[in-house]
Amino acid sequence: MTLQEIARLLGAGLHDAPDPTAPVTAPSAVDSREVVPGGLFAATAGANVDGHDYAAVAVASGAVAVLASRPVGVPALVVEDVQTALGLLAGHALGRITPAVIGLTGSVGKTTTKDLLAQVLERHGPTVATDRSFNNELGLPLTVLRADATTRYLVLEMGASRKGDLTYLTGIAPPRVGLVLNVGSAHAERMGGGPADVAEAKGELVEALGADGFALLNADDPYVMGMAGRTRAAILLYGRSPEATVRAEDVRMDARARPVFELVTPSGRAPVELGLMGEHQVSNALAAAAAATALGLGAAEIAEGLNAARRRSAGRLEIVERRDGVTVVNDAYNASPESMRAGLRAAKALAGGRRTVAVLGAMGQQAEASRARHTEIGRLVADLGFDVLITVGAGDPLAMARAARGVAVHPVEDVAGAVTLATELIEPGDVVFVKASSEIGLGACARALAAL
Ligand SMILES: Nc1ncnc2c1ncn2[C@@H]1O[C@H](COP(=O)(O)OP(=O)(O)OP(=O)(O)O)[C@@H](O)[C@H]1O
Ligand SMILES: [Mg+2]
Repeated sequence: MTLQEIARLLGAGLHDAPDPTAPVTAPSAVDSREVVPGGLFAATAGANVDGHDYAAVAVASGAVAVLASRPVGVPALVVEDVQTALGLLAGHALGRITPAVIGLTGSVGKTTTKDLLAQVLERHGPTVATDRSFNNELGLPLTVLRADATTRYLVLEMGASRKGDLTYLTGIAPPRVGLVLNVGSAHAERMGGGPADVAEAKGELVEALGADGFALLNADDPYVMGMAGRTRAAILLYGRSPEATVRAEDVRMDARARPVFELVTPSGRAPVELGLMGEHQVSNALAAAAAATALGLGAAEIAEGLNAARRRSAGRLEIVERRDGVTVVNDAYNASPESMRAGLRAAKALAGGRRTVAVLGAMGQQAEASRARHTEIGRLVADLGFDVLITVGAGDPLAMARAARGVAVHPVEDVAGAVTLATELIEPGDVVFVKASSEIGLGACARALAAL
């Protein structure tokens, strides 16, 4: 579309644009460092920076114009609300092409599953999938705007931190296939309190599906199963339970804690050996398999894709082998009780009989139950038999420390303290598991330990 056409669509004022017929030929960006020549730069206000201050930089990097809320001295489409306009533009652009849109949501595993599904689908046709965790009201339109007439599959990670989020996102990109992974505790307080409220919000995804769509529900999660009555779409169940149509049989773990199983779908069965670590990956792989099944792929094709798939996003059970035989498992991208449990179990499975060290910080977004949930994690660290626990920070992490009976516990104040102490305590051959919510910044600790 030309700037003029986009201005008309958005009801935008065109400012400082010498050539209103200039076409937009590339995706949009909200970060001036990620501007693609020929695309738009959407100027949004973040917590620390205002995109409008980067308008000139963006245009110098090749942006055709800036989507802005005020004139900025370079070509701009001036609208009242940039985020709304970006959504409108994405929705319109998507209406001009015909990819199969897959929307996926859940409390944990969205990015992992999105990466798996993309790796299965891209063997069968041009695929555009969410970059990183660009799953909100800005990231989703940016992903949609990366699709073009050649795109066959559009895989969209959809985040819901409050009610109405998924209704908004599916309004921009109505999915044909809607995949719900699980219902956990993240963001529960903003949605009203408990898992039922989280389920209420996440179920908006299947409500958005048409009668010709597919709702893929996790048969192992009762809250997800509870969404079955909220959709007009055909329902396909996946999971470990025998009633699931897409399921895993004979699940076992190989010596590197990677799941091996028999994939069963309506088209047959095929052996799967995942390249990802942790038993929870079975659920993610089945979710991806269910989506691929809905899109017409057979069991053997799906298994081939899953077997070839590798971890694409950093900080999610990312393994670094040190020369002294120490294995650092960097799971510090983020943390919730569900992912903490999955990660600790995976690290322990990987370790076999080796000595294990956990470096753990707080799990955010847990509201009133926070202290109790940290205590439970401390108990699990003890039950799993970790040898050493380093907790990082005051408050809730200390609850973890107190609950880890029989484990050598070392509370430290901050990330720097964790690096210093872990460096001292780690012995050759150890498995070191590092995890906390993203804002704690333990990724830096994992990287420092991995580099030793
Ligand atoms: N099925 C699962 N069950 C429990 N934990 C999981 C599962 N899948 C992934 N995880 C763990 O949860 C954490 C987040 O994974 P991932 O990034 O895939 O989730 P996400 O839903 O995209 O998160 P976000 O909401 O931050 O975008 C990682 O530590 C990962 O190892
Ligand atoms: Mg994500």
